[in-house]
Amino acid sequence: MIIHVISLFPGMVTGPLSESMGRIAQDKGLLELKPVDLRAFCPGRHAVADDAPYGGGGGMVMKAEPVLAAIRSCKQSSPSARVVYLSPAGRRLDHASVLALSKLDSLVLLCGHYEGVDQRALDLAVDEEISIGDYVLTGGETAAVVLVDAVMRQIPGVLGDPQSAVQDSFFGGLLDFPHYTRPETVEGLKVPEVLLSGDHRKIAQWRRRQALRVTRERRPDLLEDAGLTVEDRRFLGDKEGKQR
Ligand code: ADE
Repeated sequence: MIIHVISLFPGMVTGPLSESMGRIAQDKGLLELKPVDLRAFCPGRHAVADDAPYGGGGGMVMKAEPVLAAIRSCKQSSPSARVVYLSPAGRRLDHASVLALSKLDSLVLLCGHYEGVDQRALDLAVDEEISIGDYVLTGGETAAVVLVDAVMRQIPGVLGDPQSAVQDSFFGGLLDFPHYTRPETVEGLKVPEVLLSGDHRKIAQWRRRQALRVTRERRPDLLEDAGLTVEDRRFLGDKEGKQR
């Protein structure tokens, strides 16, 4: 997958993604990250990227022409790329949209700064606006890192063990079950017995039930669309019965 990242501070995106999984994905040739310095598309000796907003008010607005030129230069090498503007006003990123994005072969991520980008650049050249949550970041770069991180781990071959993505929180619509590793006892706390039993059917059932329990405690809204089985519902029903 080729991901172009247009930014005034492209190092804010390439830096974090040059470590850990981002490094591995790039070394394996499964992710090609192409930083695009927006400044290179800004006119004049001072390469001005922003200007005061029409209508007054505080802050600065990123100029349309450099943004359009940068997007179009990415499109020259990746004509079918989907163009995404990271913005708190966008559709909120979730597991389903991460999966959909991971199936594309190229993306252009536009990172804004200041008060935002001239609306005409968005109207002319952006396919979609995406937010990573209901809060405002200083710029779109950190949001782009989050998006690329979530998307790249869904690309087949990026994770060493394909089971990791399958077992993740949200896969199957539930939060993840708790994990344990050696030693068996930590400051008096023991590993749940069933995980030492070697009985894989029982272990799978315990994990499923823990995922159900954690999801009901923390994100009961997810249960509706999680495709629960009769067995799942019976478990949740039984637990409700016990609590009452
Ligand atoms: N830019 C600033 N805040 C953002 C957010 N929450 N999501 C995506 N891009 C942003």
